[in-house]
Formats: sequence, C-alpha cells, structure tokens
Amino acid sequence: MLSGSELWLLRLMADRGLALLDASALLMVIEERGELRVAASSGNVSVRLRVLPVEGSALGALYKSGSALSLDRPRGNEAPWLHELGIEGRAVLVAPLTMEGHGGGLVIAVRSDNRFRGPDESALAAFAASVAQRLAAERSVEIERLRYGMQARERERTRWARELHDETIQGLGALRLRLANARDAGDQQELSGAVDTILEGLGTEIEGLRHLITELRPAALDELGLVPALEALARRAQAIDGLEVRTEIELGSGSHEQRFDPELESTLYRIVQEALTNVSRHAKATQAVVRVVERDGQVVASVTDDGQGIPTQTQGSRTPEEELKGGFGLAGMRERAELVGGELELRPAPTQGTVVRLKVPLAGRPEQHPAAGSQEGAGSPALA
Ligand SMILES: Nc1ncnc2c1ncn2[C@@H]1O[C@H](COP(=O)(O)OP(=O)(O)OP(=O)(O)O)[C@@H](O)[C@H]1O
Ligand SMILES: [Mg+2]
Repeated sequence: MLSGSELWLLRLMADRGLALLDASALLMVIEERGELRVAASSGNVSVRLRVLPVEGSALGALYKSGSALSLDRPRGNEAPWLHELGIEGRAVLVAPLTMEGHGGGLVIAVRSDNRFRGPDESALAAFAASVAQRLAAERSVEIERLRYGMQARERERTRWARELHDETIQGLGALRLRLANARDAGDQQELSGAVDTILEGLGTEIEGLRHLITELRPAALDELGLVPALEALARRAQAIDGLEVRTEIELGSGSHEQRFDPELESTLYRIVQEALTNVSRHAKATQAVVRVVERDGQVVASVTDDGQGIPTQTQGSRTPEEELKGGFGLAGMRERAELVGGELELRPAPTQGTVVRLKVPLAGRPEQHPAAGSQEGAGSPALA
C-alpha cells in the first residue's frame, strides 16, 4: 500500500509533470502486488478504471515491456490500454518508472491538441527518473520511520515494565510477606490486623494499576476528542498537583472541532501529558499554560510554566538537554515529535520557567480522524 506521504508526493509530482510537458493530462501508475494502480492524475482527465491486473491487461503488457513510447493520433488497436483506462488524446507519451528493489510504474502524458516531440520525450524520461528517485527516498524514510517507531515502542514497554516492577510488584510482594508472617505467627489478632492492612494495600495497588492503564491508553482521546481530552489533562494536573493550569486551544473554526489523524492526536496528547507531568515533578511552578494552535499549515503545541527553570549548565559547551540525564520523558517526547515529522524544543520561558514547544507541519498528513466516539474500542468497559 502506498502511504499517505507517498500519495501526496505523487500528486504533487503529477501537477509538476503536467506543467512541465504542457500536457492536458498526466497519470502516475504504480505497480503493487500484481496490480497497476493510477495513484495520481493531474489535468483534465477522468480515469475509468484506476486498478488493472498486470497479468492479462493491455496496460500490464505495456508496463512489462519496460519501454518508453510516443504515439501520435493512436488508433484503438495500437494502444488498447488507453481504452482500458478510458482516456483519449491527440498524442500520448509513456515513460517507465523504475525503482530498485520495488515494483515500478508508468508515467503517462496526454495532449489533446498537439503532438509530442523529441525534447518532450527526453523531458518525460528525466521527469520519470526524478519521480522514481523521490519515491524511493520517501520509501526508505517510511521504513526508517517504522523501525524508529518500533524502537520507541520497545523503549516505552521497558518504561512500563520498570513501573510495574518498581511499583506494583514491590507493593504486592510486601503484602504477601506481611500475610505470610501473620499466618506463621499463629495469632488470631495479628492475623486479623494483617488482613485489614492487606485489604487497604490491595486497594492502593488497584488504584495504581488503574492509573497505569489510563496512561497506557488515553481513552479520553477516543471518547471525548482532542480538545476536551487536553482540557481534561489540564484539569487533572490541577486537581492532583495543585498546579493552576490554563488552556488556550484554537483549533478549527467556530463550533466545528478540528480533528487530526489519530497518530498526530495521540502525539499532541502524550507530549502535553509528559510536559505537564514534568512541570508537576520538577518545576516547582505555580502556574502552567497549555497552548495548542493551528496556524500557517502547522499545529503548534506548547506547555509553559513559571517554575525554577531547567537546571543550569555547568559546562558551557553542553546543551541544557545534554545536562538532563536519566529520564525517559524528554527522549520519548522528542521521538514522538520526530515520528510525526515535527520538532520539539525545550527552552527557558521569557521571564521565568520553562517552555516545551512542539511544531508539526500538517501538509501531507493522512485523512482526518473519524467523528469522535466511532473509533474501534472507544469506551471499552475493560478499561473503565
Ligand atoms: N518544566 C520543567 N522545569 C524544570 N525542570 C524540568 C522541566 N522539565 C524537565 N525538567 C528537567 O529535565 C529532566 C529530564 O526530564 P525527563 O522527563 O526526561 O525525565 P524525568 O521526568 O526525570 O523522568 P521520566 O520522565 O522518565 O519519568 C528532569 O529530571 C528535570 O530535571
Ligand atoms: Mg518526565
């Protein structure tokens, strides 16, 4: 499957190719798993069939020939694949797309009133080569992103494992010991005292696990949508840590709530969450402001506090972040930011305190999130 960013690239390139060749239509055909798909088209064209099998279709035969082609006033039997696609034109030009190690494709240019000449043929060949090159580059970035994503997930699991080990297992272990001791002592009163303590301890552990589950999966995002979920985070920080948290969220217009794709929404949520946790844990702040705005084709999210600021550098050459050792939080935030093609900065706030800012360009992101509440598993009672 072509990814969202690959499709976006092909659409962009189709528009460029159309202008470059002064064509009336330009099609990008990509081979995937034995099928040829018109992945992008530009100009005045409506394609009848967008997917054709490589085996058994005229377009497939053209693709397999691997050669370039130029036809003036093509007749039906000369180019039956034109009929398959349902396109017509005075002249057509075809150049193969060849990508190492991947399926290839075709670039097809059509003119409705003029023939193509020699220079057009070389222009299309050069254009096809650059499309292939950029697509291959995009694919390797995509693979890199997947690999990076797996590493990030692995690290996150390690973090949860550590949390379970240090908190829950230690806690339950202590309770078991207490119970075993009371049993061995053989004293009825001691035993009943121990049962009380253990019941209370179990309650605490259950509470801890609940908390962990909420952190693992922000159900609020599915159930409420991004804006209320962010506001809930702010309220939670306020309630638990006594921090005064203000939210300034400007997304979408009027009553229509802006939704982003799920990956971007959970990135925004997680980064704001970690930044607020850091404010509570480290900043000694009294106030924090969560700002999320969409502007100039990007979404910018920041968490600003009025606390003591990030620890000062002891050696001039190191960045503040290099000074901060041990935590997973900042590294995780940075990784999440990079996975959505964004960037994260951590710097002193203008007067005092710290600001963490995430910027993510919106161009080329996948389709927007479906309406709130319709997501699979939303409100799952198992996680309630
Ligand atoms: N808002 C802030 N104000 C002051 N110091 C901060 C702030 N945010 C982060 N820091 C400093 O940066 C360090 C690294 O943060 P990071 O989130 O990576 O780790 P952590 O919070 O210590 O641990 P973890 O997030 O893995 O539980 C913190 O230990 C703290 O010293
Ligand atoms: Mg942290």
